[in-house]
Amino acid sequence: MTDKTQSIHGQWSSRFAFILAATGSAVGLGNIWKFPYITGENGGGAFVLVYLMCVAALGIPIMIAEIMMGRRGRQSPINTMQTLAEESKADPRWHYLGWSGMIAGFLILAYYSVIAGWAMAYIVKAFFGDFINSSPEEIQRLFQNLMDNPVQQIFWHTLFMYATMAFVMRGVQGGLEKAVRFLMPALFVILILLVAYAMTTGAYEQGVTFLFNPDFSKIDGDAVLTAMGHAFFTLSLGMGAIMVYGSYLPAHISIAKTTFFIAGADTVVALLAGIAIFPLVFANQLEASAGPGLIFQTLPLAFGHMAGGWLFGILFFVLLFFAALSSSISLIEPAVAWLVENKDIERHQACAWSGAACWLLGVGVVFSFNIWSDLKLFDKNLFELLDYLTANLMLPLGGMAIAIFAGWMMKSSLAQQELEIPEQGFQAWHFLIKYVSPTAVFLVFLHVLGVL
Ligand code: PFF
Repeated sequence: MTDKTQSIHGQWSSRFAFILAATGSAVGLGNIWKFPYITGENGGGAFVLVYLMCVAALGIPIMIAEIMMGRRGRQSPINTMQTLAEESKADPRWHYLGWSGMIAGFLILAYYSVIAGWAMAYIVKAFFGDFINSSPEEIQRLFQNLMDNPVQQIFWHTLFMYATMAFVMRGVQGGLEKAVRFLMPALFVILILLVAYAMTTGAYEQGVTFLFNPDFSKIDGDAVLTAMGHAFFTLSLGMGAIMVYGSYLPAHISIAKTTFFIAGADTVVALLAGIAIFPLVFANQLEASAGPGLIFQTLPLAFGHMAGGWLFGILFFVLLFFAALSSSISLIEPAVAWLVENKDIERHQACAWSGAACWLLGVGVVFSFNIWSDLKLFDKNLFELLDYLTANLMLPLGGMAIAIFAGWMMKSSLAQQELEIPEQGFQAWHFLIKYVSPTAVFLVFLHVLGVL
């Protein structure tokens, strides 16, 4: 069935290639689009602090576990879970964890693609100089016009979905690796430029205070859940994306070191995005809680008024598009890998089927911003529902299950053998994954349910 040293889908050419791909998966719309707007909606500093604590206490140990389990299982998350459960004589039903992850990835991609489509639409707007010297009202109108236009959004969503599937089709080395090679450094540079611009707005201090000065009266249980869910979302955890990437990782590469790098880079990008955006919000009397449109209503203001803004505007949205692409390919990879392993179909067919289904759901998401905006379940439209269901529920619960499996079910000798870290480091990780991570997620859920 499985060759223990390599996945049937191929493997990364080097440790660097894996780092690029996993960082590419982690750094995406979550950092630049989602982190600022949910921080704005949840009052700033205290939310950021809870998020950072979750990255450290949950994200890092669980990422180590996911990569380790993926490399040991060497297949799609569903089959990996099955193999690992057999190996450790655990209940075979653990493979349902792989299913929940695959479904979560699919649901996330449906809306992720729509938002990435907005970024693509903004490349064109930037190119035609739509931001130049625009007032905050004009920039807001520009965004609202896009929201009100389902046809345009579907057009961009379709293009994005097509681009994603084209990369996924080419497989591990052909598509995924090449997509991220130059992207990360370039994105980093442009974010630094935006931060430098933010310093000139006159509201830099106010923005930074908003981000880093915790006021705990501003958050409640739901905000804590959102912060925790976002730690999973931003690190691509709890659904098998990092697990499937781990399955393409050659043996004897340090999983722990790699994880610290990925989590560090991811966090820095999110914080830079926040530092670039909030001064703009305050300098222009915009609403910090503007929601999913926040970056589209703030950053164009910077591009419209800074020196070289035309070029930087184009570059920024191009990079945002690529950052989204390198994440979206990891969202669908578990499903594609599973279809190829189990349904005896070619990779390109697996891509076509899963891409088409995801596209269709994405069309519903587009409508939730206009013609279906009043169609609500639990007071949430389709976009909000998918986001809540995946980021706030499925990923943290999936992450908790991964922690329980790695800490309690898997033989610790096997985990240690796969991780190859010194005894003390292993004990520290094992303690976190066994006790701290599952308990923390559990307590947050109890709190949200009002039990605590
Ligand atoms: N981490 C990505 C982001 O921050 O944009 C989103 C994501 C990718 C979530 C892959 C989950 C995943 F499996």
